[in-house]
Amino acid sequence: MSSQSAESVRARFEEAGQAHVFRFWDELSEGSRASLLEQAEEIDLGELGDLVAKFAAGDGDEGPALAGLEPAPYIPHPRHGGSPEEWAAARRLGEEAIRAGRVGAFTVAGGQGTRLGYDGPKGTFPVTPVTKKTLFQVFAEKIQAAERRYAARIPWFVMTSHANHAATVAAFEGAGYYGLSADRVSFFTQGRMPAVDRNGKILLEAKDRIAMSPDGHGGSLRALVRSGAVAKMRAAGVDTLSYFQVDNPLVRCVDPAFIGFHLRAGSEMSSKMIPKAYPEEKVGHFCRRDGTTVVIEYSDMPMEMQRERDESGRLRFVAGSIAIHILDVGFVARVGGGESGSELLFHRAEKKIPCVGEDGDVVKPEEPNGIKFEMFVFDALPFAENAVIIETLRQDDFSPVKNADGKDSPRSAVEDQLRQFARWVLAVGVELPVDDTGLPAFAFEVSPFFADDEEAFAKRWAALKEKPVIKEGAVLED
Ligand code: UD1
Repeated sequence: MSSQSAESVRARFEEAGQAHVFRFWDELSEGSRASLLEQAEEIDLGELGDLVAKFAAGDGDEGPALAGLEPAPYIPHPRHGGSPEEWAAARRLGEEAIRAGRVGAFTVAGGQGTRLGYDGPKGTFPVTPVTKKTLFQVFAEKIQAAERRYAARIPWFVMTSHANHAATVAAFEGAGYYGLSADRVSFFTQGRMPAVDRNGKILLEAKDRIAMSPDGHGGSLRALVRSGAVAKMRAAGVDTLSYFQVDNPLVRCVDPAFIGFHLRAGSEMSSKMIPKAYPEEKVGHFCRRDGTTVVIEYSDMPMEMQRERDESGRLRFVAGSIAIHILDVGFVARVGGGESGSELLFHRAEKKIPCVGEDGDVVKPEEPNGIKFEMFVFDALPFAENAVIIETLRQDDFSPVKNADGKDSPRSAVEDQLRQFARWVLAVGVELPVDDTGLPAFAFEVSPFFADDEEAFAKRWAALKEKPVIKEGAVLED
């Protein structure tokens, strides 16, 4: 960068009250100066200024408005009163779209995975009970299984962050793209936002480095547009995107019934819900307000509301969000392209952010000292026409790996996979010792290539001349 443009960047920061970002400039090497300037240029000072002003004024601190919130309606699963015919019809419609090559898969994998305490990209975390396949491998195999079943091409888009992009791409390369053809997988990096102190001043994590962090999974909509992924989808005839988070090995990556319900309704953004298991469960809640669908995070809904029950004794705000959506590609282009009136809001989170003090030494705070800004993908729901919510069974769609142990941990995810495999095996009449939670007495594994749901398992099993023995360490493969 020329010294002239360096001057102009610094001048803009000075004007925005952020000149301190360059306070160690004179000590920095050429290389450090260049990298600091590059980070500085990534920041939209206007946007940041608005955010700081908004939060400094206390706007947004009070959380979302709760007045007039109603529980959102949803399409019940056939096990809970939904119409089997309606579900079968939706499934056929979804299958048609997959066969026609209209569907792509999309994984948001830019999170920092701090709670799990795992160093690499979360997608490279081993999750299956016996062969220890990684999350990425599980998704890749489920996508390939769907490609085979429907004789279709299903491109896969993976959103990374600055911090994990190179490691993510290297993991795919090292694993031969998990059997997928490389030209079918696209990676792109999400945007970043600077962290600020309580006075709105940008924090430095080193003398030559701004404290930047991913802009939330809501940043995926912008990033899909900016990276050219949307253009790529359009060129390939993909108009429907199956969105899921990197942390959930049970997710049905490409679910025809879900896609069918979405298409049938002409929906721009659809969602899966599970009934909350108990009032305190930490998931977002699907609600309706002024004729639109909204998600209210568990942290934003007062506990007495989360505990409200209807006449039948059921939780009133029962629809928990498990972060699985179908997105219409035109909708992504509109919201991600920043069309006025459909901008996603930033949420603020107070965090402990290591940063350099006046003397240039790095301080590791004991208490939250700064603010990070993130967008949430579900904040796009109010902008979506005909948003549809369908019920899914937790046991078949949701067991995230979030914490190192306890709930939503590697262990609970392994156990939930084992329970799923055991249900499939028991359903074909094989005897299997299980405890009263359905957990089998030993570990075994079913590859998505063998079967990826109960129905496929039954079909495959029936077709086998010699039935394999289901025992400790057994792996049912292709
Ligand atoms: C999230 C949802 C919650 C939902 C739950 C289900 C939010 C605020 N809440 O909670 O409503 O019930 O999942 O599992 O999202 N990610 C990025 N970039 C980012 C931040 C996150 O790609 O900048 C990705 C992560 O890689 C991960 C996913 O988003 O795949 C979830 O992020 P996380 O912060 O773990 O969300 P939760 O708080 O667990």
